[in-house]
Amino acid sequence: MKVVTDVRELPSGCAFVPTMGALHAGHASLLSIAQQKNKNVVLSIFINPLQFENAQDLAKYPRTPEADLALAASHGATHVWLPSQAEIYPANHRVLSAGPISHLYEGKSRPGHFDGVVTVVRRFFDLLKPSVAIFGEKDFQQLKLVEEIAGDVEIIRAPIIRESDGLAMSSRNIRLTAEGRAAATVISRALASSKTEAELRAALSLEPLFTLDYADFIDEESFAPASPQTAHVRAIVAGWINEVRLIDNMQMVQSS
Ligand code: PAF
Repeated sequence: MKVVTDVRELPSGCAFVPTMGALHAGHASLLSIAQQKNKNVVLSIFINPLQFENAQDLAKYPRTPEADLALAASHGATHVWLPSQAEIYPANHRVLSAGPISHLYEGKSRPGHFDGVVTVVRRFFDLLKPSVAIFGEKDFQQLKLVEEIAGDVEIIRAPIIRESDGLAMSSRNIRLTAEGRAAATVISRALASSKTEAELRAALSLEPLFTLDYADFIDEESFAPASPQTAHVRAIVAGWINEVRLIDNMQMVQSS
């Protein structure tokens, strides 16, 4: 595996897995999908300041560089790209606008977050020119917005990878206390057991350590509130435990 900072040393037309590091089994699953798509698998590690609306969250974002390289090597990355700030954000760089869906849900609580995400992803694509890029469904709204700016890069949706007790894997989980980690299972349990928004909110309210931001049933395409006519409904949840922001989602089967 080659570790490079300069994009000119990387193979364009590759399968691409963009990350902010603190890699876990969820990222490993993205790498295994990437390997099926192309013999060249590039994983990037770049903590993108533009997508953090809160300086404290950026400062606290977990950084595990040695473990990251070991995971990338053992899960089939052929190249790791560690771009510099200057390469991604030259002096004249432009911040893209992620469009109307970016102001809902995650975007409402984290103003500017998705503009930062689409700006960095588009920049990665322009520099690297991958043929495919793999994104996890855990960040469902991000995935939708990336699809909108992908151009000729094929976006592959990867399923959420969960711990054995159901918690969706996230780099932020390591910031939870033991008590908080146990409490966090409420989210996946509530998602799996609820057939309506009211049931979902009631199930989440049973955990005193969980502070709810939103719990909604939405149309997967438009992100509008789901109605009985909505063909593809997804339940989306966000909130905090130990001041750590946790998000999760699940596809819902509409009863006819
Ligand atoms: O999902 C992430 O880790 C980040 O939002 C991404 C896509 C790497 C952009 O910084």
